[in-house]
Amino acid sequence: MFAVTATRFDPDNPLTGLTLGDRPEPGVPDGWTTVTVRAASLNHHDLFTLKGVGIRAEQLPMVLGTDAAGIDEDGNEVVVHSVIGTGADETLDPKRSLLSERHDGTFAERVAVPRRNLVPKPACLGFEEAACLPTAWLTAYRMLFDKAGLEPGSTVLVQGAGGGVATALIMLARAGGYRVWATSRSEDKRARALELGADQVFESGARLPERVDAVMETVGQATWAHSLKALRPGGRIVVSGATSGAVPPADLNRVFFLQLSVVGSTMGTREQLGRLVRFLEQTGTRPLIDRTLPLAEAREGFAAMHEGALFGKVVFTLPG
Ligand SMILES: NC(=O)c1ccc[n+]([C@@H]2O[C@H](COP(=O)([O-])OP(=O)(O)OC[C@H]3O[C@@H](n4cnc5c(N)ncnc54)[C@H](OP(=O)(O)O)[C@@H]3O)[C@@H](O)[C@H]2O)c1
Repeated sequence: MFAVTATRFDPDNPLTGLTLGDRPEPGVPDGWTTVTVRAASLNHHDLFTLKGVGIRAEQLPMVLGTDAAGIDEDGNEVVVHSVIGTGADETLDPKRSLLSERHDGTFAERVAVPRRNLVPKPACLGFEEAACLPTAWLTAYRMLFDKAGLEPGSTVLVQGAGGGVATALIMLARAGGYRVWATSRSEDKRARALELGADQVFESGARLPERVDAVMETVGQATWAHSLKALRPGGRIVVSGATSGAVPPADLNRVFFLQLSVVGSTMGTREQLGRLVRFLEQTGTRPLIDRTLPLAEAREGFAAMHEGALFGKVVFTLPG
């Protein structure tokens, strides 16, 4: 089958390890099933894998991709939950992994997944929209509605407006009744964030009109100091990513003196993915797609993400 695979690591030029071509059909362990992929979306996780983050060299070659929507063995339209783990909250399973970390991922004609990881896809969501949900949108949903501890009407700051998680945060926060402020390095992306539903936008690092109740952080080092300064006393940063670096100064004086909370968040549970699907059904909110490409042209999508030239999700499609 055709697949997009990581064949080696290069931290500086990750696209050199990207290989498109024929791969064996996935093995199907007991309790697992096969999904015929109709659409899959790109995440920064896929670039990190090509840089050698979160995976060992002896696991290569590895089919990339954490997200997919497609058809199960019984002909049902499904969304694939990407977290492989057990327990009431599988994201807390110490042995949990995401598709493409230990098991081949979704950038292929077919992917094997545990049966419990199939979530029904409602007819109102297209395959391309549904393929955006399992990583970026699920992560945003859990950050905002589970970890942030906010009530509707609160003010939330989203750092790095253009990203897949960030655009999801802006749209979910808007639909959930929050006041949404967003930052971006790019004027064009700031204008687009306003169109998406942000109430106000700011240059990265800019002084804000007032302090916010919570900050949604995925950029990391480049925005961390600003995130701490942006919070009201007792406010909370929810962090799920560190695209620009993971070890900024902690500024502990500010953390204890203002009694701030720093809360980590990763992906979400299968139940939360089900509720996210229902949230989109109920509110009419739909994932923002920057571009849709045939899987055979995946390299173009990876390059755009590497250059930071995206606003929303990149989706790869396969013929039905
Ligand atoms: N923990 C989890 O479960 C989980 C799940 C999903 C994603 N993540 C992580 O979250 C991060 C975002 O993922 P994504 O898929 O949304 O990636 P993405 O679409 O590539 O978005 C990255 C965004 O970060 C901003 N950015 C990058 N470098 C920056 C810099 N030096 N200064 C300021 N802003 C910068 C950019 O915003 P502007 O250009 O608008 O400034 C860009 O749009 C990644 O680190 C990813 O690994 C974690």
